[in-house]
Amino acid sequence: MAKLREAVIVDFVRTPFGRASKKKPGFFADVRSDDLGIIVVQALMKRTRVDPASVNDIIIGTPTQIGEQANVARDISLAAGFPFEVPGISVDRACCSSMAGAQFAAMAIQSGQADVIISGGLESLSHFPNPVITPDVDLGELAKEYSARWQANPKIFDRIDPTAIMGLGLSAEYVADKFGISREALDQWSLRSNLRAAAAQREGKFRNEMIPVQVRLPDGTEAVFDHDQCVRADSTIEKISCLPPVYKPDGKINAASCSKEVDGAAAAMFMSREKAKELGLKPMVTIRSMAWSGIDPQIAPYGACLVSKKALERAGLSSGDIDLWETNEAFAVVPLVLIKELGINPERVNVNGGACCIGHPVGASGIWLLGTMAHEMNRRHSRYGLASIPGGVGQATAILVERERYWKGRSAFLDKLETATL
Ligand SMILES: CC(C)(COP(=O)(O)OP(=O)(O)OC[C@H]1O[C@@H](n2cnc3c(N)ncnc32)[C@H](O)[C@@H]1OP(=O)(O)O)[C@@H](O)C(=O)NCCC(=O)NCCS
Repeated sequence: MAKLREAVIVDFVRTPFGRASKKKPGFFADVRSDDLGIIVVQALMKRTRVDPASVNDIIIGTPTQIGEQANVARDISLAAGFPFEVPGISVDRACCSSMAGAQFAAMAIQSGQADVIISGGLESLSHFPNPVITPDVDLGELAKEYSARWQANPKIFDRIDPTAIMGLGLSAEYVADKFGISREALDQWSLRSNLRAAAAQREGKFRNEMIPVQVRLPDGTEAVFDHDQCVRADSTIEKISCLPPVYKPDGKINAASCSKEVDGAAAAMFMSREKAKELGLKPMVTIRSMAWSGIDPQIAPYGACLVSKKALERAGLSSGDIDLWETNEAFAVVPLVLIKELGINPERVNVNGGACCIGHPVGASGIWLLGTMAHEMNRRHSRYGLASIPGGVGQATAILVERERYWKGRSAFLDKLETATL
């Protein structure tokens, strides 16, 4: 068998993440999520100056493949102006969808089946909101309401309680109890997330990854958005500790210690090391190992630990070797359990905040974590980074990357991003 090639990431971009809320609609409330997908794909093409005909595939993650999000990868290829020969494939591994897409991209390149792949994800939670499941919710009624999106086979309920599958907040409560994570620790983590993200925004840390987007508002005026809308610079522990539990009366998780519902898109360009060198593009990072796994849905948030351990083992590294960690704050319990289980220095985890305030645009979250980590690794000159994400219905993915001293070349990821117009 031929030797595996190395897959590198040469660029990562994303839109700002806009609030998805019926009460207080955000800046992408009336925007199609596939339009956000087109924006990220086109920005990658512009910044890397890669010939569109040399893109071998476009992979887009999203678990909600209906309406504007159905057949979305192929639609984006067509709408973004690629030659007809550039195909598209849409991937669903729940919250892990776009990280799974990144794994498929890396494997296609490593095995020599492709040289250049765009891999991203998107979500409009304004258009396709998640249900909030509490113990008193009538699951039968809920199933009817959501039947156009998902009709779970009743046979799976012979094995697991329906709330364990659909009630992600309840599984986070269960894991917090199981691993002894206190309400105070969850509140403190969500505060930290907000303050770190606010500082990163002030310091312009997201400038190299975030595409400013011009939107026409319902009143007909135009506005440019270049920041994540749910970050609260004025967050305080006094306010957070007074918030009521969301998922059960005696629960620990409140509106601050779970992820924000947002709309957004993100994408990275993957290449073989040889192709990047041929094009004179300097990689951000090289993929060193990957892992994916299923897990009992009741302890779904623990999935991040499971796959991170696997990825470390495959790379022959230990947790102390990792300079930077990104994990999805679907609930604050995810980073806290990861830190506890793997003995990680918290100062290396989610250093610019996470989904508790930036948001969890489900289909886009996995690639966002990987890409934002790659940018931060380049700012800090880190060597190893490990991104992980647990997902609904009990799955998880992780990717471990290395930043090296690459050849002298153009760092596309350092160029300024132009404003995109919708
Ligand atoms: C929990 C959830 C239902 C809350 O939705 P919401 O009520 O629209 O949330 P809001 O952002 O309006 O926050 C509710 C309150 O908490 C407050 N709050 C939230 N975060 C805060 C923070 N960091 N600091 C201070 N106050 C905060 C808000 O100010 C608001 O109070 P107000 O009504 O007085 O303004 C929603 O965010 C959710 O479902 N999250 C989880 C998403 C999920 O499960 N994803 C899949 C995971 S795999």
